[in-house]
Amino acid sequence: MTDNKRNFAEALQHPVFGTIRDIIESTGEEAYVIGGFVRDLLLSKKSKDIDVVVVGSGIALAEKVAKHHRGAHLAVYKSFGTAMVRLRDAEVEFVGARKESYRANSRKPIVEDGTLEDDQNRRDFTINALALSLRAETFGDFVDPFGGYDDLKNGIIRTPLDPVITFSDDPLRMLRAIRFATRFGFTIEDNTLNGIQQTAKRIEIISKERIAEELMKMMTAQYPSMGFKLLDKVGLLEYVLPELKALKGVDKVGGRAHKDNFYHTMTVLDTVAAKSENIWLRWAALFHDIGKPRTKHYDERLGWTFHNHNFVGSRMIPGIFRRMKFPTDERMHYVEKLVDLHMRPIILSEDEVTDSAVRRLLFEAGDDIEDLMSLCEADITSKNEEKVQRYLRNFKIVRRKLKEIEEKDHIRNFQPPITGEMIMDSFGLAPSREVGILKNAIKDAILDGIIHNDYTEAYELMVKKGAELGLKLVKEQ
Ligand code: CTP
Repeated sequence: MTDNKRNFAEALQHPVFGTIRDIIESTGEEAYVIGGFVRDLLLSKKSKDIDVVVVGSGIALAEKVAKHHRGAHLAVYKSFGTAMVRLRDAEVEFVGARKESYRANSRKPIVEDGTLEDDQNRRDFTINALALSLRAETFGDFVDPFGGYDDLKNGIIRTPLDPVITFSDDPLRMLRAIRFATRFGFTIEDNTLNGIQQTAKRIEIISKERIAEELMKMMTAQYPSMGFKLLDKVGLLEYVLPELKALKGVDKVGGRAHKDNFYHTMTVLDTVAAKSENIWLRWAALFHDIGKPRTKHYDERLGWTFHNHNFVGSRMIPGIFRRMKFPTDERMHYVEKLVDLHMRPIILSEDEVTDSAVRRLLFEAGDDIEDLMSLCEADITSKNEEKVQRYLRNFKIVRRKLKEIEEKDHIRNFQPPITGEMIMDSFGLAPSREVGILKNAIKDAILDGIIHNDYTEAYELMVKKGAELGLKLVKEQ
């Protein structure tokens, strides 16, 4: 055992700890607060999830605790032998100390009663196996059999047992290791890292929902790229996101190479993350070049091209989201849209920045225009400083024009002033090709600056274009 002399009684202010202390004093049991709560306490982070392990019945202790706290809600999970007491400001989970062994093809363990040490042994990492005593005579005493305190101080992720055993028992822990390392900026100790490498294939038994949950947490880190680089390093990336793995590598023809799109993507991701906490913008950054492997082509004159990769990439997003059990609602459509449009501001800034091109961009990006601009700026990772400066200067012009045009024409949430119904009404038409032609003509004329975004001008254009199509007005609006 390492240094167990520390005492953290002061930190156990929440009244539930006192309740547990008093109850176990009368039953003579041992109970400890353990895991994430203790880890977060030492990292000076607040945690509302309290895990309590009791050498005895977790359910029985939870029932008694719930009676002591007004408004407490008790939920018992008989088949797991656990119970949860939900208080106003905390959720406390109770479990009996256990010894566990696992079968090869399942995350469901065979469970037996055990001691505190057995329980600590079966936990994922030394930093998550720290416990504080809740017994009256040792209240707040630190129990750290694996040197988790030192690992926390030194920023190290390490399994308490042989890593291959810990990870085979529950392969989700491989992702947890990477998630903790990424969020805390910690290092995964070599032996533990090797253990992940050896066990990587077993990630296949983990549900996509659990994997998604870990990836979502990883994505909130300050430098999310660290997680994806680690996934790649240990051989998990091909199972989790093969589309990203496919971005790796450089091809050369006649001495001409393209950049490694995986490392480029990693830079773009961190640059976007530094600007915005919007997790979906971060996913868009991660996936922005996902269409490149499928569109890669070498041309003697042009060199390497990835024609239409933005469109191809955006079409890949629903498949990835469905497979990963990510939400398939407007958040997915946002990512699709950003991936699709991510080249537009660059192309726009390479030419002369015309009002009409800016209006079209505003129309298509709508309220997401700022996010799109952030993604595009982050996408410039060239090592050629002069090129970078030129792009950034051009982007300034694009941004200024976007602002001017938005103020003038209100394109962002633009709805053409003449609806399809008005067109049908005016010419006595049923829904037909002509209605679409007239609607588009009006929209295009506004976006191209031929007419203003104004009812009268749009109406006049409708009448004129209708006449060109041989239509007669049946009703004046
Ligand atoms: N645990 C484990 N193996 C897992 C999940 C959890 O050993 N696959 C243990 C760890 O001791 C962990 C505790 O159960 O600290 C509580 O798990 P959980 O609440 O899922 O995670 P936290 O560690 O509290 O971290 P977070 O809330 O950030 O997920």
